[in-house]
Amino acid sequence: MSELYNKCMIIQKTLFLWIIFLFDLKSLYSINLVKHFKELGYLEICDKNHGTEKFDFLYANFEKFIEFLQTNRAWEQKLYSAKERFIRSKDRNYYSTDFFGFYDESKKKGRDQISFYYSIHFHEFICSNYPEFNKIPEIVSFFETCFEIQKPYRNIFTEVATELGLETIFSSKYNHPPILLKIIKYLPSYVATSPHYDGTAFSLFLDSTDNQSLLLSSYKSLLTINDFYSPIRKFSRLLNQNSILLIPGIFLREFSIYPTPHIVAQNDKTRYATIAFAMRPNYTPQKNEFSLLPNFNIE
Ligand SMILES: [Fe+2]
Repeated sequence: MSELYNKCMIIQKTLFLWIIFLFDLKSLYSINLVKHFKELGYLEICDKNHGTEKFDFLYANFEKFIEFLQTNRAWEQKLYSAKERFIRSKDRNYYSTDFFGFYDESKKKGRDQISFYYSIHFHEFICSNYPEFNKIPEIVSFFETCFEIQKPYRNIFTEVATELGLETIFSSKYNHPPILLKIIKYLPSYVATSPHYDGTAFSLFLDSTDNQSLLLSSYKSLLTINDFYSPIRKFSRLLNQNSILLIPGIFLREFSIYPTPHIVAQNDKTRYATIAFAMRPNYTPQKNEFSLLPNFNIE
């Protein structure tokens, strides 16, 4: 009887030690990640999901998509109407934003960029409500490439949120984080003005044709131009791997995680970039004051 009791006690103690050990590991990792964001402002991850080929294919498709919409303004208008309808649907709340679709700011002074905000629900909404879009190869291939690209990043966002003990921020009926994929083309005339904070939980800089132009700073109460730097990458843009950077956005303030300010510096060349934004389902952003950001456009 006493032997059985002793065995039970040993099992109980071992289990207890394991629980303590696992808890410690988890807290240690969480502390490190929070510390990491505080010190550097970003976390670099080696992405083995997509390499150069996939992103260059995306940019080539984006070019065809842009050309189609710029030469067929009626389709651009139709896409805009689809977006307007989508942001009145229930699925809009899953993303807690109104940014979807095509933004042609190529003629807008001070912007000089063209971007597209893709999400799987917006894609599905278009396919089911606007079947005529399915007949346009430039639209179909661009959307399908976006779909393929965004797929693997759900896991990264879930893992990081879990490590920080924030897994509930993504709770929804869909059981995965809402992802907005932004594809952007900066024109050679683009001029950097002021850094910004992202209206996201996390932003993941997936790829760009010029990493050097992305400047960021860890969060500080007083920020100057000199605080912004281009992170030195451990991994490079290769056929089967890519260096991706994860930064916190403004939606984590209630957990004392501050956003990383960043800016794309001008380089007088065309620059393509892809970013995955993790949003927060059914979230109303709180009014928060963050540190003032310096002006880069000093004449
Ligand atoms: Fe940003």
